[in-house]
Amino acid sequence: MRHLLSTKTLSRDDAITLLDVAEDMADVQEREVKKLPTLRGKTVVNLFFEDSTRTRISFEAAAKRLSADVINFSAKGSSVSKGESLKDTAQTLAAMGADAVVVRHSASGAPQTLATSGWIDAGVLNAGDGMHEHPTQALLDAFTMRRRLHGRGSRGRDLDGVSVTIVGDILHSRVARSNVWLLQTLGADVRLVAPPTLLPVDVSGWPATIGYDLDSAIDARPDVVMMLRIQGERMHAAYFPTEREYARRWGLDEERLARLGADSIVMHPGPMNRGLEISAAAADSPRSTVREQVANGVSVRMAALYLLLSGGDRDGQKTREEPADGGAR
Ligand code: NCD
Repeated sequence: MRHLLSTKTLSRDDAITLLDVAEDMADVQEREVKKLPTLRGKTVVNLFFEDSTRTRISFEAAAKRLSADVINFSAKGSSVSKGESLKDTAQTLAAMGADAVVVRHSASGAPQTLATSGWIDAGVLNAGDGMHEHPTQALLDAFTMRRRLHGRGSRGRDLDGVSVTIVGDILHSRVARSNVWLLQTLGADVRLVAPPTLLPVDVSGWPATIGYDLDSAIDARPDVVMMLRIQGERMHAAYFPTEREYARRWGLDEERLARLGADSIVMHPGPMNRGLEISAAAADSPRSTVREQVANGVSVRMAALYLLLSGGDRDGQKTREEPADGGAR
């Protein structure tokens, strides 16, 4: 694997390998010393053109636990706000010797451009591009589902037959898109539930069934209910009458929570709008995996960085082996 740009193009084998390596990384996270020397001497740049808290610190923690050097570059307060282009920024990072670039950008396709432009010879990880994809989020979601539903001895397994209902602002959600593709690859059955205004105009090519009524979706007792944030910052029109009305019809309130099957889990990628798409009771219930998702995110991103950067095949050439003395420099 050279880059991680989308889940749509991720093979089943690569997805399972990522999840299995993430299990190994999760084991390391339970040790007293959480750090591995694997990426010593490599430089990982976090290039964030859009605001983020958990994704950026998650990638930072992942890179540091693999002993890479981490440079955080956020566009605010940088020369990007003076009009510098993606190309010039990329060439600056190349000159600094970046081995991997983790990029979040408001434009769909920006990571793809970075990966294929030739401006920089680094592994590119998409940390969210516009409304397009957010592959590490979908991978950490799949990892969380596999662990909760199949237990810890789930290496090698996929999500065959698992039913997943994704609810809310599908239209603006790169998390939903990455999940739909990955879940299909892993054999899960996906249902999307939203007001018609918050579904993309044409979802006929998506491997998912569509519904508009949350109550009947809950009564079908899916294994997983994934609530999505209402993305106010991407809304330039009124998509629903009032917040109160949205919460009443599409929010996961206490009463709906109680009707879920005994083993169903509730997920949310964060940040949550408590009281809008998800009630505090649902967010904090034992069914909720919100905090596990954050913890698992570090393991999954460690796996992604490791697979992209450690000695694998890059442009047909084997990267230099570490010297036997551990490569002190
Ligand atoms: C998601 C994102 O940025 O796309 N959040 C995240 O990565 N933690 C979802 C969201 O912002 O609603």
